[in-house]
Amino acid sequence: MGRSSSVVGTILALWAVLVVPGECHAPFFIFGDSLLDAGNNQYLNNSHKSALPYGETFFKRPTGRVCDGRIVPDFLAEFANLPLIKPYLEPGFSNYTDGANFAGLQVNEMKYHLTLPPYKARDHIMKLHLKLQLSYFEEMQKKLKQQEGEQKAQELLSKAVYLLSMGGNDYMHAAMPSFGKSTPPLLTASYKKQYMVVVLSNLTSVVKKVYAMGGRKFIFQTVGPLGCMPSNRIGSGSKGCAHDVTVLAKTHNIALSKARYLQLDIGLFAAEYANLPLIKPYLEPGFRNYTNGANFASAGAG
Ligand SMILES: *[C@@H]1O[C@H](CO)[C@@H](O)[C@H](O)[C@H]1NC(C)=O
Ligand SMILES: *[C@@H]1O[C@H](CO)[C@@H](O)[C@H](O)[C@H]1NC(C)=O
Ligand SMILES: *[C@@H]1O[C@H](CO)[C@@H](O)[C@H](O)[C@H]1NC(C)=O
Ligand SMILES: *[C@@H]1O[C@H](CO)[C@@H](O)[C@H](O)[C@H]1NC(C)=O
Repeated sequence: MGRSSSVVGTILALWAVLVVPGECHAPFFIFGDSLLDAGNNQYLNNSHKSALPYGETFFKRPTGRVCDGRIVPDFLAEFANLPLIKPYLEPGFSNYTDGANFAGLQVNEMKYHLTLPPYKARDHIMKLHLKLQLSYFEEMQKKLKQQEGEQKAQELLSKAVYLLSMGGNDYMHAAMPSFGKSTPPLLTASYKKQYMVVVLSNLTSVVKKVYAMGGRKFIFQTVGPLGCMPSNRIGSGSKGCAHDVTVLAKTHNIALSKARYLQLDIGLFAAEYANLPLIKPYLEPGFRNYTNGANFASAGAG
């Protein structure tokens, strides 16, 4: 996660823009995939529950993050003088005035992959898909109103900053034959386009619902150059980055960065997920020089 620093730098600047001066307390709500999950995955009661060991560098204990240190929301919370934003599913967590984290490991938007001929739907049920994250958010909104009163809760939801990271897993499933256990999908251009439209419209529908509940300040973390992730470089079968999946990511980012796509009057920012260093996976054969770091995580696939 060495790449975090440039992302954090960009997003910190955005935060400064999003939070109106003087409005010192804005809660922080987080939706998305493993890049943002602060540990929800470990509280699931189904077979998707995970027990990630990472956390040694900063927390000195496993935290459920797919990262040995802190993740982007942790740095943002610190910048905004908020405590670390807790995973919504953490037992006993019930005070949401500072925000809550709904993100989940290995999340993609589509509960099932699309069944579009000639591709078979993959029976790959994701853990905390975006729709489920939204329903937890709705549940939280009700509790917040009970605790803080209707008016105060509404004020908090309107002032809040919403961070979303979504799409990477969708595109890897769609375009990387090696991702998951499926056979190569041999995607056609039109299928990919259709797929992206669904991913974007799912994401949009969540943003619109949060908007309807009062949310006005959104940060989208863009999807990184997926094809250059170590696992995908290996999976691409060639020596370089996998091409198709990176194109999907770039196209997604362009679409997202156009505020008019959403047709909402909101503060909308895309935080570029840039400078992804090519940190080699620890297990890559012949890789013995760790000067530039090594990738022990599976976030490359999360
Ligand atoms: C998991 O089970 C516990 C105990 O039954 C329950 O309190 C908790 O809400 C469940 N968590 C989820 C995410 O369903
Ligand atoms: C929730 O936490 C805030 C501080 O973060 C505190 O001011 C407030 O009293 C707490 N609310 C409840 C209901 O405990
Ligand atoms: C995404 O959109 C598709 C097609 O409209 C729908 O079937 C699916 O349930 C949506 N998924 C989520 C997580 O919203
Ligand atoms: C390891 O990599 C660093 C940076 O690329 C390089 O400066 C160093 O000489 C390498 N060490 C060995 C033992 O190859």
